[in-house]
Amino acid sequence: MVAHGFKNKGLTPFPRAKRADLFYNPCTMTTNDKTKDVKLGAVITGSARGIGAAIARRLAASGYGVSINYVSGEERARKLVEEIEAAGGRAFAYHADAGDYEQVEALVEETAQRYGGIRIVINNAGFSQHATIDQVSVGDWNRALAVNLSGAFYTVKATLPYLKKLDWARIISICSLRAMTGSNHGAHYAAAKSGLIGLTKSLALELAPGITANAISPGYVNTDMNAAALAKNGDAIRAMIPACRVAEPDEIAALASFLASEEAGYITGETINANGGIYMR
Ligand SMILES: NC(=O)c1ccc[n+]([C@@H]2O[C@H](COP(=O)([O-])OP(=O)(O)OC[C@H]3O[C@@H](n4cnc5c(N)ncnc54)[C@H](OP(=O)(O)O)[C@@H]3O)[C@@H](O)[C@H]2O)c1
Repeated sequence: MVAHGFKNKGLTPFPRAKRADLFYNPCTMTTNDKTKDVKLGAVITGSARGIGAAIARRLAASGYGVSINYVSGEERARKLVEEIEAAGGRAFAYHADAGDYEQVEALVEETAQRYGGIRIVINNAGFSQHATIDQVSVGDWNRALAVNLSGAFYTVKATLPYLKKLDWARIISICSLRAMTGSNHGAHYAAAKSGLIGLTKSLALELAPGITANAISPGYVNTDMNAAALAKNGDAIRAMIPACRVAEPDEIAALASFLASEEAGYITGETINANGGIYMR
């Protein structure tokens, strides 16, 4: 089993090695991990529709057993499981509120038991609410933070014992353009998504080298979340985007699928924009 005890305790990426560190070089560690090439489970929160469903299809197609997690979309989740299984993949549907630790823990345990472990975590569950700061109630604020930010922490916390057993594992969080730009109609959403960036960097520092943590920051994607805005202001929105169009969910899933692969092991702590050029750092 890999010892993942290497921790960067300082603010600089390369703290000076102490004597004990000389005998504990994460770059030269070897393990007897028998699961190195085995496709285990992938926990994907909020995966019955939209971006989460697209990621589930891709990870299932590459051999992972995937959790199709829903809160309101039981029928959609069941149909997606059927679709994935008909294509030769492994999937199951599971109701769990990402904003509730005990429900997330149950989702994680079910996934690990079914597929013999967990290698991939996709923190995707999220929702936005169109409200100015003086319209946002304390309850709205707490719910937005619970689902969009705490849900990611809960999923990571519950899966870590499984991820740490492996040679390599991946954590990917779906952030948002609003974390970069702020929002004049959803400060709670923007604040929660900004928090995912700090969480991602911290996980990358603490969990290296075996586990990478990255975030994807989509711009406008063609899902239910944007359906009303696109119906009302689609032309104006597309005109603001250098790519002249919104993304399809599978374009975000393609990036998630790469970050989830073993090949992506040298990318960690990053938040990658996938926004058609509407915001560049
Ligand atoms: N669409 C965009 O333009 C865009 C842009 C930037 C970031 N994002 C982010 O991308 C992620 C996916 O969004 P989407 O565009 O695919 O939106 P969507 O089509 O509205 O799907 C949202 C998903 O999140 C799930 N969900 C919502 N609340 C949940 C909760 N409490 N517990 C578990 N699952 C919950 C929903 O489950 P049910 O189906 O069961 O309701 C659904 O599967 C979100 O984190 C969103 O913030 C989207």
